[in-house]
Amino acid sequence: MKVLILTEKPFAKEAVKGIQQVIEAAGMEPVVLEKYTEKSQVLDAVKEVEAIIIRSDIVDAEVLDAAKKLKIVVRAGAGYDNVDLDAATAHQVVVMNTPGQNSNAVAELALGLMVYAARNFYDGSSGTELSGKKLGIHAYGNVGRNVARIAKGFGMEIYAYDAFCPAEVIEKEGVKALSSAEELYSTCQYVSLHIPATDETKNSINYTLLERMPEKAVLINTARKEVINEAELVKLMEARPGFKYLTDIMPKNHEEMVEKFQKRYFSTPKKMGAQTAEANNNAGIAAANQIVDYLVNGNTKFQVNK
Ligand code: 3PG
Repeated sequence: MKVLILTEKPFAKEAVKGIQQVIEAAGMEPVVLEKYTEKSQVLDAVKEVEAIIIRSDIVDAEVLDAAKKLKIVVRAGAGYDNVDLDAATAHQVVVMNTPGQNSNAVAELALGLMVYAARNFYDGSSGTELSGKKLGIHAYGNVGRNVARIAKGFGMEIYAYDAFCPAEVIEKEGVKALSSAEELYSTCQYVSLHIPATDETKNSINYTLLERMPEKAVLINTARKEVINEAELVKLMEARPGFKYLTDIMPKNHEEMVEKFQKRYFSTPKKMGAQTAEANNNAGIAAANQIVDYLVNGNTKFQVNK
C-alpha cells in the first residue's frame, strides 16, 4: 500500500524521514510530493495511493475523484477546513486530524507576535511590556490553552471565551472565563484568535466586535484568515490609529494593509505557526501512525467525518 506525503509547504527534513520510517516499518511504501505548483501534479500523485498525509493542502471533490484507491486522509495538524468532508464521506474516505500535536509551536508564535507589537516592530523606540496587560484568548482549545500557559510566564492577566468549552475547565487553569465574545473584546487590550474557520466563524471578527477593544488594542491572528472581515478591519484601523493587527496568515488585501498601516500591521510571508522541527515531527509522525493504525487495525479514534 502507498502513503503519499502531500505538502505544498514541506515538513522539516527530519520529520519526513521519521514519517517514512513509520510507513516502511508497517510494510507500506511512502511517496512524497512537496512544493507542488499545479493542481495537476496533485491529481497525478493521488492516483495510486491508499492514504495521504496533508497540511493545509486542499483535498476537494476533484482530488477525491482522482484518488480511486484512497481510504484515508490525515491532516497533520488541527484545522481541517481544507478538506471537503462531505465529498470524502461520499467517497468512503476516512478523514482525521492530529489534535494538539503542533499547538505549542503556534502558541509560541502568537506570543512572539505580541512582543513584536509591544516593542513597536523592533524599531528601536520605547515600547511597552506584556506584563500586567489583559489578554483575551478567543477559543480555548489546544492552542488557546498553550497561549494561556506561556502568557502566565509573561505576567499577563488572562481571559478566555469559548462557545463550547465549559467555564469550569477554563477557570481550573487560572484563566478567567467570560460569557461572550463581546465581553472578551471589551475587556482585553490583546486578543489572540484560536477559532476554526467554519460557516459560523467566517467573517465574524468584524467592526462591531473589534471597536469594543480598549485603546492601543492588538489583535493577533494565528488561526485562519477567513474568520476576519478584512474590509471592516481596514475601516476600523482607519478609525482607530492605535489599533494593531499581526497575523501569520497573509490576508487577501495584504498590499493595501502594508501601505495604509505601517508599524501597525504585520504578516509573515507564509503561514508558519506550526512550522517548527518539533511540530512537524509530532504532527507528521502522529499522522503516519494513525494511518497505519487505521489500515491495519481499523482504529478511527481521530476521525472527523464520522
Ligand atoms: C493547523 O491547523 O494545524 C495549523 O494551522 C497549521 O497549518 P500548517 O500545517 O499548514 O502549517
